[in-house]
Amino acid sequence: MLNTRPLHPGFGIEVVGLDLSSPGSAAAIDEMVRMLDTHALILVRNQTLTNQRHVEISRQFGPLLTHVLKQFLTTDLPEIYVLSNVQEDGKPLGNHKEGWNWHSDLSYVEEPSMGSLLYAVEVPPVGADTLFSSMQLAYESLPIAMQERIRDLTATHSYLGYYGKAFADRAPLSDEQKARTPDVVHPIVRTHPTTGRLSLYVGQDIVKAINGLPQAEGDALLAQLNAHAINSASIYRHVWQKGDLVVWDNRSTMHCATPYDDDTYRRVMHRTTVAGTRPF
Ligand code: OGA
Ligand code: MN
Repeated sequence: MLNTRPLHPGFGIEVVGLDLSSPGSAAAIDEMVRMLDTHALILVRNQTLTNQRHVEISRQFGPLLTHVLKQFLTTDLPEIYVLSNVQEDGKPLGNHKEGWNWHSDLSYVEEPSMGSLLYAVEVPPVGADTLFSSMQLAYESLPIAMQERIRDLTATHSYLGYYGKAFADRAPLSDEQKARTPDVVHPIVRTHPTTGRLSLYVGQDIVKAINGLPQAEGDALLAQLNAHAINSASIYRHVWQKGDLVVWDNRSTMHCATPYDDDTYRRVMHRTTVAGTRPF
């Protein structure tokens, strides 16, 4: 049995007193894999993980994906996607300003990630918290009439559209990157494949349009759903410490980075991304 405490009344749990660096923690990790379906977010603090161990732990959750932005796979292992403001020899160590909008990882592919494991290697003393929202709480707290209105709607998610908005100051995607990320269509309300619980599946910037509605009406509905999803009642704010590992379920949560003084402080985060199945 793991020793746990809740992080938010509706979702998220911290596992305390666990050393994930030891291969003896395999059974505990299996329990975390099961817990993710119901708790949606798991925090384990005070870890010292090698890249190898981070990847091994992540593999217990499922097969891992490698990110389309290969220039940010800068460790010895391609499964680790680096988020950072640090430059080394004039080259970025990782993607800066990754996730500075509300999103669920890889929603722009046909089979988005089921979960991500983000490990804090270096964190600023203030700022750079990550906000997480339970999209299950968000869906369940919508008025019934709204739940019914959106129940069968779909949305188009576009990495190209997102990249143009989020990273307008950068070189555009290469043809190969574009070919790997065509627009995709997903339901706005998705069903958790193991628990059957429903959640909203929206997001900022990546969602280009709600299908079957005039653009302006779709945009207004999307803005309304996003605003509802990120209201404070369904949000857990994670204040990072070096050595934190946070695992989240991309099928039932969204998250968003917050700014920090990136001229003064260094931030280095390592993410692994677990493969998922097509949302329904
Ligand atoms: C991510 C992400 C936000 C952050 O790792 O997928 O969106 O605060 N991170 O680093
Ligand atoms: Mn993300």
